[in-house]
Amino acid sequence: MTTSDARLSLVRLLEPEVLADPYPFYRALRTEAPVHWDRYMHTWVVTRYADVIHVLHSFSAKRTPTPQQLSAMGLSALNPIATVMVKQMLFMDAPAHTRLRGLASAAFTPQRVKALRAHIQEISEQLLDRVQGRGSMDVIADFAAPMPAIVTAEMLGVPTEDHAQLKKWSADFAEMLGNFQHNPDRVPRVLESTNRLVEYFKNAIAQMRAEPREGLIHSFMTAEVNGDRLTEEEIVANCIVTMVGGQETTTNLIGNGLLTLLRNPDKLARLRDEPALLQSAVEELLRYESPSQHTGRIARQDVEMGGKLIRKGQAVMAIMAAGNRDPERFENPDELVLDRADNKHLAFGWSNHFCFGAPLARMEAQIAFGTILRRLPDLQLVRGSLTWRDNSGLRGLTALPVTFSRR
Ligand code: HEM
Repeated sequence: MTTSDARLSLVRLLEPEVLADPYPFYRALRTEAPVHWDRYMHTWVVTRYADVIHVLHSFSAKRTPTPQQLSAMGLSALNPIATVMVKQMLFMDAPAHTRLRGLASAAFTPQRVKALRAHIQEISEQLLDRVQGRGSMDVIADFAAPMPAIVTAEMLGVPTEDHAQLKKWSADFAEMLGNFQHNPDRVPRVLESTNRLVEYFKNAIAQMRAEPREGLIHSFMTAEVNGDRLTEEEIVANCIVTMVGGQETTTNLIGNGLLTLLRNPDKLARLRDEPALLQSAVEELLRYESPSQHTGRIARQDVEMGGKLIRKGQAVMAIMAAGNRDPERFENPDELVLDRADNKHLAFGWSNHFCFGAPLARMEAQIAFGTILRRLPDLQLVRGSLTWRDNSGLRGLTALPVTFSRR
């Protein structure tokens, strides 16, 4: 094993200082070994913008082990998790993916997102009402975690009082998404939360049959394309992926985005003065501190990339957060430019699996930043060390303490 192998391994994302600022590490990979075989992770790693797009466009998304494969490896204890994951659209290829995504899209129209706008504004105001008189808050616990949790419950059509519980289960399930470290001690908790989530959504479906209530679950239940319907297992699995995908990442976009603005006070001040910039600012914050840093794929056939031969069946990690800082694609990529014009970033992925909830996430973030900046004057970061969650793929802070002037 050479030192360069160790220096360029994704395992380094677990080092606290790399986790705090992974961009110099990504730059080293992109410049020294843009298509890199990571011996420790047993996967190829691609970091250039164009290569990330190629992988997301052409490689297979079918990467999660089936219950049968896990049993063969003596890991049948994980079967309840695998049973759910194999039915989630995120881990499927066409035609199964096309069918599921088509049915899901029929259930999640842009009109529905628009209808949620007024409610998202209301939730944001209410959360800030609670802290306004205090002069301080933890942005994550007081705002960025509950806001998407309440919105997601509303979007699914389950009681919003359940949001805190759903958030906890989602956080456990998220360990299976975007994470690659082995935490065997946490497996029982992830299993328990997966079982509880499955049970919760089965009950919700039963209740919905008796008493239909508007929301994604009901739409999933009634969506029909050319006479095709989703099975109960498919509805449950895709409610879970939508809920987990919709919470962790949006929480992290609000947390990472606000931290970035607080670290660039002149830009924060500009955004406060020019709310018309919110739309492009959110795109730039998505590019600059991507909440979903990487994703995985499998090579469908032997293929050459960057002068390296990737063999059929080998795993490939596409690092969107590295592609988003590629100077071949973005001018001054390490600079935060709130009105960046040419900003087709990779934060929501690319091609067939492009984030299903992107319009909702964008709207939540625009409302969150707009409302926080309007209502909390003299926003300041509390000095001290920040702790990043130890999920290498879903990048986010455990807490973000700030102060502001009381009104
Ligand atoms: C800032 C917030 C968000 C970010 C950064 C984000 C990021 C992503 C990315 C990168 C992918 C593609 C993964 C891949 O190709 O392997 C994806 C897919 C997905 N996202 Fe999001 N997401 C966000 C918010 C949401 C929301 C709010 C929802 C639900 C309403 C959601 C639901 C999904 C689903 C269901 C998929 C799978 C789509 C498919 O496989 O066809 N996401 N997301």
